[in-house]
Amino acid sequence: MTGEVEIFEVGPRDGLQNEARPIAVADKVALVDALSAAGFRRIEVASFVSPKRVPQMAASGEVLARIARAPGVSYAALTPNLQGFEAARVARADEVAIFASASEGFSRANINATIAESLARFGPVAAAARAAGIPVRGYVSCVVACPYDGAVAPAAVARVASALDALGVYEVSLGDTIGRGTPEAVDAMLAAVLDVLPADRLAGHFHDTDGRALANVEAALARGLRVFDAAAGGLGGCPFAPGAAGNVATEALADRLEALGWRTGLDREALARAAGMARALRPGGGGREGP
Ligand code: HMG
Ligand code: MG
Repeated sequence: MTGEVEIFEVGPRDGLQNEARPIAVADKVALVDALSAAGFRRIEVASFVSPKRVPQMAASGEVLARIARAPGVSYAALTPNLQGFEAARVARADEVAIFASASEGFSRANINATIAESLARFGPVAAAARAAGIPVRGYVSCVVACPYDGAVAPAAVARVASALDALGVYEVSLGDTIGRGTPEAVDAMLAAVLDVLPADRLAGHFHDTDGRALANVEAALARGLRVFDAAAGGLGGCPFAPGAAGNVATEALADRLEALGWRTGLDREALARAAGMARALRPGGGGREGP
């Protein structure tokens, strides 16, 4: 197959949020600016969550204020509640994301709410974003497995994806948060989700704990998905998903996609420079070793 596949760069948010060592705002801004030169259309750069829970993202407003905004690039932020949305709006995030889980255990650990409570909380965020003309993306975490509850039923993922759709998100990103998915499990999960949303409203978000993220991308490509989240340098992980390793590395994903004949539209030299900067932010290298 050939055609275009978009990589949604999440390195400055998912890649860095789990780093224990404080990273200077100037370093984050330099990474975003390097990524902006690589040709991404969307880059997740900020997260307006509780600074007590995710200290690394505390300076998200400053990051958004200091980056050099490249024309045509959407700079995205996570917003778990109205407080976060308001901060993102003031900081001029171009789009925001609400993030739910398909499993109760991770929902509780990550955002201190049941799935139903979280969806109720996202309603006002989505409404405020609509009123402000800010596009909203949705995440579903633990789409194949949960660090607390074990295997997750495809129907549970479809239910949450459908609920996010009802809130008006423009796209649902399906997260293998702990990177334990197999292509077979991803395929079964997508079969259920595609009953409620078409492939062009879905993205794949694969962490690479077990080294199967690229195979999982291929399973999702076969199901028609054409957007994948990735982090330059393969950094990443969630503080509330013990044992989870980084996102699939953007440069490795671009290599695989291009080898398969897909176009990413990325400037590979600029991407390599950004990936080098991302790796340098993690003492010891980054990639699959995880937090
Ligand atoms: P809560 O724990 O229910 O508590 O928050 P609360 O709402 O009662 O607030 C507690 C304190 O947090 C208060 O401060 C609030 O002001 C403050 P205090 O009075 O104690 O000084 N607070 C905030 N501060 C700044 N910005 C805010 C905000 N909201 C409350 N927006 C909440 C619920 C969701 C906020 C909290 O549990 C939280 O921040 N959790 C962190 C979630 C997170 O960032 N997880 C990582 C990102 S998700 C991910 O990585 C998965 C993904 O990559 C996909 C995948 O891989 O699957 C997206
Ligand atoms: Mg993630």
